[in-house]
Amino acid sequence: MAKQLLEVRDLHTYFHGTPAVKAVRGVDLEVGAGETLGVVGESGSGKSVMAQSIMRLIQPTDGAIRQGQILFDGEDLVKVSTERMRAIRGNKIAMIFQEPMTSLNPVIRIGEQIAEVVRLHRRLSRPEAFDFAVDMLRKVRIADPERRAREYPHELSGGMRQRVMIAMGLACNPQLIIADEPTTALDVTIQAQILDLILDMQQQTGAAVLLITHDLGVVAETAQRVAVMYAGQVVEYAGVAELFAAPLHPYSQGLIASVPQVDGEMTASRMLPAIPGTVPSPTALPVGCAFQDRCQFAFDRCRSEPPPLVEKSVSHSARCWLHV
Ligand SMILES: Nc1ncnc2c1ncn2[C@@H]1O[C@H](COP(=O)(O)OP(=O)(O)OP(=O)(O)O)[C@@H](O)[C@H]1O
Ligand SMILES: [Mg+2]
Repeated sequence: MAKQLLEVRDLHTYFHGTPAVKAVRGVDLEVGAGETLGVVGESGSGKSVMAQSIMRLIQPTDGAIRQGQILFDGEDLVKVSTERMRAIRGNKIAMIFQEPMTSLNPVIRIGEQIAEVVRLHRRLSRPEAFDFAVDMLRKVRIADPERRAREYPHELSGGMRQRVMIAMGLACNPQLIIADEPTTALDVTIQAQILDLILDMQQQTGAAVLLITHDLGVVAETAQRVAVMYAGQVVEYAGVAELFAAPLHPYSQGLIASVPQVDGEMTASRMLPAIPGTVPSPTALPVGCAFQDRCQFAFDRCRSEPPPLVEKSVSHSARCWLHV
């Protein structure tokens, strides 16, 4: 198989505690250059912890990557130095978070904030970096960018702040954009605009995108492949069309069956539906398959042995004893 831009192999990230919080338990995935990989799964499945692990943002006081590899452009990010990681973060890999207000400094004008990020990675004078920031604001379609650049975050709407985050993330032309529910905090029309913007920027720059979302419709429209996460693991990994046409894992089947469809098209309301029961706590995982208590097909083996991720075809894998 061709070398991918990002290859996550057997990633384990645990938080400290007695017992340890096993938030990510052996995740494998890859994202090719220019590709969009969607990551879905209900709250608590480990999506954000996986993304933070790739960015090496897990604080040592809280937890650590315990096992596995994060190969980015041939380098293992688990092993690189803090300095090297600082150079990669924001420069080669950008992350766009759900709530931009928490990532923006409230007392610094937004133009200055973008300029600062640019100056971390490029040799530009202050005025040059500021002009660059104004250009970035224009690129993310903020009207009157010269004026906006001189405003503080609280003077902007939520949608505009998210555009600023995108401008900041893309200022250094990253090869990989990790977007962790970038539109969840915004209203529906703004959500669509922000997604369009991310995809547009991706097309212009050829960046790869790892898109974490609760919205299966967004995945259907934007991603080429999808990883379905459950209790810290990828339980199904497939091309988008294959996943929607023939989901293998009972969890994915539950998600997709309950997505309302009109004439085979997704409707506006397509957030992850409620499947009866809850995700097991990462401190009290059952023996065997993590989905057993919610699975109508569970049998003896599911309660005694954890299923492996099995490749059913080149582009479709599932972690289920029904599919081995
Ligand atoms: N700093 C932390 N310390 C301890 N446990 C944590 C920490 N951060 C996350 N967790 C736990 O790790 C598990 C996975 O959390 P994570 O935030 O990755 O879920 P998620 O899939 O992103 O959910 P959501 O869809 O709600 O964003 C959860 O059980 C969460 O409580
Ligand atoms: Mg999350």
